[in-house]
Amino acid sequence: MATIIAPSILSADFAHLADEIKKVTDAGAEYVHVDVMDGTFVPEITIGAGVVKSLRKVTDAVLDVHLMVEHPETQLESFAQAGADIITFHVEATRHPHRVIQKIHELGCKAGVALNPGTSLSAVEELIEEADMILIMTVNPGYGGQKFIESMLGKIHMLYHMIEEMETECDIEVDGGINAQTSVDVREAGANILVAGSAVYGAADVAQAIKNIRGKEIFHHHHEDDDE
Ligand code: DX5
Ligand code: ZN
Repeated sequence: MATIIAPSILSADFAHLADEIKKVTDAGAEYVHVDVMDGTFVPEITIGAGVVKSLRKVTDAVLDVHLMVEHPETQLESFAQAGADIITFHVEATRHPHRVIQKIHELGCKAGVALNPGTSLSAVEELIEEADMILIMTVNPGYGGQKFIESMLGKIHMLYHMIEEMETECDIEVDGGINAQTSVDVREAGANILVAGSAVYGAADVAQAIKNIRGKEIFHHHHEDDDE
């Protein structure tokens, strides 16, 4: 599966979002990752549906909306109407994740389910069949520029095998501390959508940074009775 790069505009200049998005999509980024924070699920407040609506008018890129909010079920309609392509919510933020996925699909969007580093894969096992994407947080959500948590590699790999065993299709997105170095490890573990904020927007040459994060294509072999 080819790697998809999703620059996070959290590290962009909020006064020039249209230009900041053009910069990364011109450089080959397929998705634009929008971090929505509510000041409760995570400490900061960032972007709401109004901003997404404006961004929709200036880009054809896939708008990958990451909801770091409590009660995500109350926000789905506004973000779908604003033009989100993918809506990802945290499994920790709702009692009814399965229903939230259904609602996102009814609204015509792809559905992603995010897990904090401290949340076990068992929280999403029953959702994989229904979801389009599982987002493994590789830092604790809330801020850009944090250090990649190494122990998440095993989790990514386990998820990759889980999906393979279920013979279903489900993207694996990773978010937090992704750069040219950690990219190799997460892709080897099975991630195919890479979010990167500071490593993209903090670079002098954004196009080169995206190229470095994308790296060389990794081919996964299917292991039948291999229990590594
Ligand atoms: C963290 C956000 C991330 C953030 C990643 O809460 O969900 O999308 O922008 O930033 P970096 O790539 O700098 O770790
Ligand atoms: Zn994010």
